[in-house]
Amino acid sequence: MKLFLKRLRRRIRKLLGIGMPPQAHRDLKTRFTYVYRGNVWQSAESASGPGSDMGSGSVHQATIALTKVMRDHDIRSIADVPCGDFNWMPRFLEECPELGYVGYDIVAPLIAANRKAYPERTFRVLDITRKVPKRADLLFSKDLINHLLERDVWRAVANMVRSGATYLMITSNSDHASNAELPKNVGGMSRLLNLQAAPYNFPPPIYYDGYLAMWRTEDLVFVLDRAAVI
Ligand SMILES: C[S@@+](CC[C@H](N)C(=O)[O-])C[C@H]1O[C@@H](n2cnc3c(N)ncnc32)[C@H](O)[C@@H]1O
Repeated sequence: MKLFLKRLRRRIRKLLGIGMPPQAHRDLKTRFTYVYRGNVWQSAESASGPGSDMGSGSVHQATIALTKVMRDHDIRSIADVPCGDFNWMPRFLEECPELGYVGYDIVAPLIAANRKAYPERTFRVLDITRKVPKRADLLFSKDLINHLLERDVWRAVANMVRSGATYLMITSNSDHASNAELPKNVGGMSRLLNLQAAPYNFPPPIYYDGYLAMWRTEDLVFVLDRAAVI
């Protein structure tokens, strides 16, 4: 029991970023590099956390969502922002050999590891709150905005819109999402977000399964005005 409590305390401290070096609180790149190097999300299988494990419900739902929208909307290329450690995506891509794919992430050593493990694939270091990725038919963003402060959510989605993708598919939680701000911009902190609720008020998506929502980018152009004033 004592050992269990000790481990639990250590896990919570790590997740909250308590005891992190001071520089780790400063910016997104430092913060997520710390998360990656410290395996803060504590999955034995994936550096991107349990939601990226092959057997997880999130991966199952994401695979169903991608398969369906690709077929229904003739999607031929995907920009995956963020790609994380690319743990589950290879299995999906194997089924679609014709699909163009570029994976982006803010963490340089993670992108280096992906390039080494999958030299035939294209990966780029990119902070989506600051830079615009190359155009693809679909910009896919699983489990990113939940980890960002509200101002960075606006900036990230604005750059997704600027990419010129025809469609954006983004994590948007239907259940218990209060859209509260992150308590602190540190560590691996996360919370549920529903993009159809305030302050985001996105229009109804054209695909939605309670976890991943897809919009036509032309329906999200209003995000550019909002991001310009934050
Ligand atoms: C929970 S993981 C999800 C990874 C992947 N989408 C998946 O489902 O396996 C979140 C990822 O977001 C990346 N990330 C955080 N902020 C970012 C930013 N501003 N730009 C690009 N990537 C970012 C982190 O480095 C981390 O790899």
